[in-house]
Amino acid sequence: MFDDYLSWKPFFEIVPMKVEDCIEMSELHGQRFPRRWSDGEFQNLLLQGGVFGFVARQTNAFFSKPFGGFVLSREAAGEAEILTVAVSDKFGRQGLGWRLMQAGLREAAARGAETMFLEVEAANEAAVKLYGKLGFRTVGERPAYYTGPDGTRSAALVMSRVLR
Ligand SMILES: CC(C)(COP(=O)(O)OP(=O)(O)OC[C@H]1O[C@@H](n2cnc3c(N)ncnc32)[C@H](O)[C@@H]1OP(=O)(O)O)[C@@H](O)C(=O)NCCC(=O)NCCS
Repeated sequence: MFDDYLSWKPFFEIVPMKVEDCIEMSELHGQRFPRRWSDGEFQNLLLQGGVFGFVARQTNAFFSKPFGGFVLSREAAGEAEILTVAVSDKFGRQGLGWRLMQAGLREAAARGAETMFLEVEAANEAAVKLYGKLGFRTVGERPAYYTGPDGTRSAALVMSRVLR
């Protein structure tokens, strides 16, 4: 019994995003990015045509369904893009980013997209490595694209991946 307790680990399901998820998405976005997107901004995006997403919810918590992360994407005219993706730092490096991205890639392909694009800060090692592992390759660079809270500028990479 005690051994079971020690080996207990969180399990997550990846499910389609709903408007009701937007408050938790906004909270997590604020924890993981310098400028938080409000729940209203998320709602407006999600209600736009071609926009879809997935969230990770823990299935083996006792009293609630803790929120692990989300990915938000858009598909239009055969091209898709990742609008944003984030995983709670409580559950980092457990494969949630990978699973969320895979769900987004599969859905984009099912909606007819042939290519997925995204933009990422070149210095964001975790994200750049995750995207590289998923088969994304750098197709462009925008120097001094982001401005940090202290005014420093950093480059953005544009990455893409063929979906079939
Ligand atoms: C980027 C992010 C989504 C990754 O989520 P995650 O659930 O921790 O990632 P995963 O556990 O699925 O990792 C998959 C692979 O990504 C890479 N990776 C993830 N975190 C990493 C880190 N901290 N350092 C180096 N590589 C990392 C590794 O290659 C990893 O595979 P491995 O564990 O077998 O080595 C998460 O760190 C995050 O939310 N960051 C803040 C928000 C952000 O930067 N979003 C992307 C903006 S474009």
